[in-house]
Amino acid sequence: MTNGDDTAAVLAAVAHEFKNALAPLGMTLQLIERQVQTGQPVAAADLAFSRAQVRLLSSLVDDLLDQQRVDLDALPFRPAPADARAVVGEAVAAFRRAHDRAVALELPEAPLMAELDPARLRQVLANLLENADRYAPPGSPVTVRAQPAAAGVRIEVSDRGPGLGPQEKARIFQRFVRGAASRGTSGLGLGLYLCQAIVARHGGQIGVDSLPGAGCTFWILLPNA
Ligand SMILES: Nc1ncnc2c1ncn2[C@@H]1O[C@H](COP(=O)(O)OP(=O)(O)OP(=O)(O)O)[C@@H](O)[C@H]1O
Ligand SMILES: [Mg+2]
Repeated sequence: MTNGDDTAAVLAAVAHEFKNALAPLGMTLQLIERQVQTGQPVAAADLAFSRAQVRLLSSLVDDLLDQQRVDLDALPFRPAPADARAVVGEAVAAFRRAHDRAVALELPEAPLMAELDPARLRQVLANLLENADRYAPPGSPVTVRAQPAAAGVRIEVSDRGPGLGPQEKARIFQRFVRGAASRGTSGLGLGLYLCQAIVARHGGQIGVDSLPGAGCTFWILLPNA
């Protein structure tokens, strides 16, 4: 496990993440500059890569701002009665557009009504899907399921990645904590912290079922509307 809530370590991790995203962006912009100066067409792949790096930097800033808003109890939250099936479907569609990874979607026939903020729930699902994509082996399938539960709605994101040991399971929802699977990958350890804060604002619960080597199932329980 790495980090935790130590200011110097957190600042170093934030600086490292920004530098890792900025360095290749700077190099690609130089390439584009040279293409323009020499009258060559600008390579579409270089532009797409630059845009992707800018998106990555923006999402780092958004996560840092959101965790500060959670601290101040000032995270914008606009709940209304909604069908969770629609929100889950939108989150999966957005993920499929941006990633080359098979995602199976299992939804019931009947509506799954809950009092929820669709944008915030999409943010939670995007984080869980991003983790499954980042930590599970390329090509392994991910399953997203939504179903009625005793007093609400249960949503699950399952992967066939490395899974989590008991000690990790207890710590990964804390901010700036990264686990064994994160070695060699980028990230600040904020995704699950924000997921937990947002699910708590819904009056719900979040957790993970996992055994090392057997993949993870992250689950969310939202109370009925
Ligand atoms: N699906 C998963 N399989 C295995 N390990 C996971 C999975 N999801 C999360 N983890 C572990 O939990 C840690 C914390 O996850 P979290 O999403 O909070 O942060 P991160 O992915 O490291 O960075 P960030 O989300 O800020 O980009 C990860 O570093 C990883 O070790
Ligand atoms: Mg993450």
